[in-house]
Amino acid sequence: MEHQFKKGQHILKTLGKPRSPSYIFEKDVLSAKAHEFKDAFGQELPDTGFYFAMKSNNCPDVSVAVLEAGFGLDVSSGLELSMALELGARDIVFSGPGKTEAELSLAVANNDKVVVLMDSVGELGRLSKIAARNQRTVLAGVRLTTEPHGLWRKFGIVKSELGAFISQCRKHEYIEFMGLQFHSSWNMGPERQIAFIQELGDCLGALSPEDRRVIKFIDIGGGYWPEKGEWLHESATVPGLVKHALGIETQDKGHYLNPATPVNVFAEKLGAAIRKHIHSRIPCKICFEPGRWICHDAMLLLMSVVDRKFDDLVVTDAGTNAVGWERFETDYFPVLNLSRPAFLEKSCMILGSLCTPRDVWGYSYWGDDIKEGDILMIPSQGAYTYSLRQNFIKPVPDVIVFP
Ligand SMILES: Cc1ncc(COP(=O)(O)O)c(C=O)c1O
Repeated sequence: MEHQFKKGQHILKTLGKPRSPSYIFEKDVLSAKAHEFKDAFGQELPDTGFYFAMKSNNCPDVSVAVLEAGFGLDVSSGLELSMALELGARDIVFSGPGKTEAELSLAVANNDKVVVLMDSVGELGRLSKIAARNQRTVLAGVRLTTEPHGLWRKFGIVKSELGAFISQCRKHEYIEFMGLQFHSSWNMGPERQIAFIQELGDCLGALSPEDRRVIKFIDIGGGYWPEKGEWLHESATVPGLVKHALGIETQDKGHYLNPATPVNVFAEKLGAAIRKHIHSRIPCKICFEPGRWICHDAMLLLMSVVDRKFDDLVVTDAGTNAVGWERFETDYFPVLNLSRPAFLEKSCMILGSLCTPRDVWGYSYWGDDIKEGDILMIPSQGAYTYSLRQNFIKPVPDVIVFP
């Protein structure tokens, strides 16, 4: 907490009285994270490629910073692809289900910069038609589904169809098939990714040597949880959910840690699994699509107290439309009172100014006291917040690039 208070004071000292509410984007933090991630995996594997998942934070300044750190961009729509091209990205992977004709056409028109990660046989046919019409060869890969049941089924093809898919690709003159992708989300540790890498190794072993030879890269996706772990209010923990089901009311006072694995351990364990199951069969490049891990700590929110309605309830000028979802009903993030700093956590409802009771920032703040006009800071709001912001009731805050 000391570090966070120091950071907040430094920001206020440098910016004077910043606009409130605002997102503060800390470019140095992002660059350091990007380099740390690259170095961790780069030490383990001989040939690597890094693509920032733009969906996790689509602020153009964020993409510019990751490009400067030597990343490419992972885009998931025509909108994101257009932005990546406008920002001058020259190494882009385009993945995602249900790509439209217009989105595929944009990829074909930029075939020197984009690798299309196809999602189905149908998409192969659509992409091939557009490529042939334009007489442009498209570099492409295919996504493999990691969970062939339930909602995740919609992503990619099942592993057992890989050989047939590669054979299909050979029939399309303008498709140059060259790789595979998979992605799993919300990995607190590398276990799930390792299990899939093992399955993938078996699948590669069953391919013909000719099919194996065309695979030049395997993109193992994103989903790395930041090392600080996931902090939850009691109501979002298993005991809290059980209490809720039994009709016992929980006072969201405590916060609970769901721990996560450090990135060097992810790199070490995934590196070992890749060497054992993949590189023993194919000497391919390994690509990564981290989003959350890179941008989580690189953006924070500043806001002010507008109304102290009770000693234990204040309303801020920011509403949770700034983050686009009711994040703080489940997730705990400290609210720091930069105007009255103290290493004391005091109980108080910190609520936003939207006309909905579900507009919650937290149930406590760190500080001596809390009064109207005080400036509050919520750290680690860089991932899946800015991209999800909503023009709902209140305007969305501006971004201040710091320093
Ligand atoms: C295909 C793909 N790659 C990468 C990511 C980034 O995941 P994360 O931000 O958890 O690293 C996502 C997120 O949904 C994704 O769908």
